[in-house]
Amino acid sequence: MFIAIQRAVLHNGCMDLIMLGAGGHAHSILDALAGTQIDAFVVPAQDVTSASGLHRKVLEESRFLATHRTSARIANGIGQMTPRSARGQAFDRFRSAGFEFETIIHPSAVVSALATLGEGAQVLAGAIVGPGASVGANTVINSAAIIEHHCSIGANVHVGPGAVICGDTQIEDHCMIGAGSTIIQGLHVETGVQLGAGAVLVSDAHRDQILAGVPAKPLRVD
Ligand SMILES: CC(C)(COP(=O)(O)OP(=O)(O)OC[C@H]1O[C@@H](n2cnc3c(N)ncnc32)[C@H](O)[C@@H]1OP(=O)(O)O)[C@@H](O)C(=O)NCCC(=O)NCCS
Repeated sequence: MFIAIQRAVLHNGCMDLIMLGAGGHAHSILDALAGTQIDAFVVPAQDVTSASGLHRKVLEESRFLATHRTSARIANGIGQMTPRSARGQAFDRFRSAGFEFETIIHPSAVVSALATLGEGAQVLAGAIVGPGASVGANTVINSAAIIEHHCSIGANVHVGPGAVICGDTQIEDHCMIGAGSTIIQGLHVETGVQLGAGAVLVSDAHRDQILAGVPAKPLRVD
C-alpha cells in the first residue's frame, strides 16, 4: 500500500525521482519502475560522458548534492558484485545528505503481505519474498530469486538471480549470494559472506568467508 501511494505521488509529478547510476542495474530498475518517469540520472564525474550517450538528463553527483532539494526520491541503480561495494556507500552518502530511497518491486514479483521490506530494498522481475520474511535496507533480491518464509535478510545484501534461500535462514548485512545458489533452511550467514554462483550452502557461513561448490566450501582463507 505504502509503495503504491508513493508511486502515485511520483507519477503526478509532485516529487522528482532520481536514478543513481546509469549502467546494467539501473536498466533493471527502470524496467521494475514500469514507465515511471526518471527526472535525472546521477553519476560520478568520470561516468558523465558515457552516461550522457545513453540517457537524456545526466548530472554529476557532487553538483547534484550541492544543488538539489532533498524532497527528490532516489532509486539506487548501482549494482553490487562484492560486499561493501559502491552501492552501499552511495546509499549512506545520500541518506546522510537527507535523501530518502524508493523501495521498488517489479510488477511481476510476488511479495507476501506478511513480509517487510526496508528503505530502498529492490525486488526484481519474477522474484518471490515469502510470508514472515524481512529484507533489509538497500538490499537487492534479483530476478527470479526466492526468499522463503521467515528468512531474515540484512541490509546491503545482493541475492543474485535465481538464488533460493530456504525458510528460516538468516543472512546478515553486506553479503553477496551468487546467481543460482541454494541455501538450505535455517542457516546463519554472517556479515560479508560471498557465496559463489551455483553453490549449495549446507552449514553456517562465517564472517567474510568466500564459499563455492556443492556442497559449498571456503574458496580460500584470506
Ligand atoms: C565465488 C566468487 C565470489 C569467487 O570470486 P573470486 O574470489 O574472484 O574467485 P576467482 O574467480 O579468482 O576463482 C578462484 C577459484 O574458484 C573457482 N570458482 C570461482 N567461482 C566459482 C563458483 N561459483 N563455483 C565453483 N568454483 C568457482 C575458480 O574456478 C577458481 O578456481 P582455480 O583456483 O582452481 O582456478 C565468484 O566466482 C562468484 O561465483 N560470484 C558470484 C557471481 C554472481 O552470481 N553474479 C550475479 C550477477 S547479477
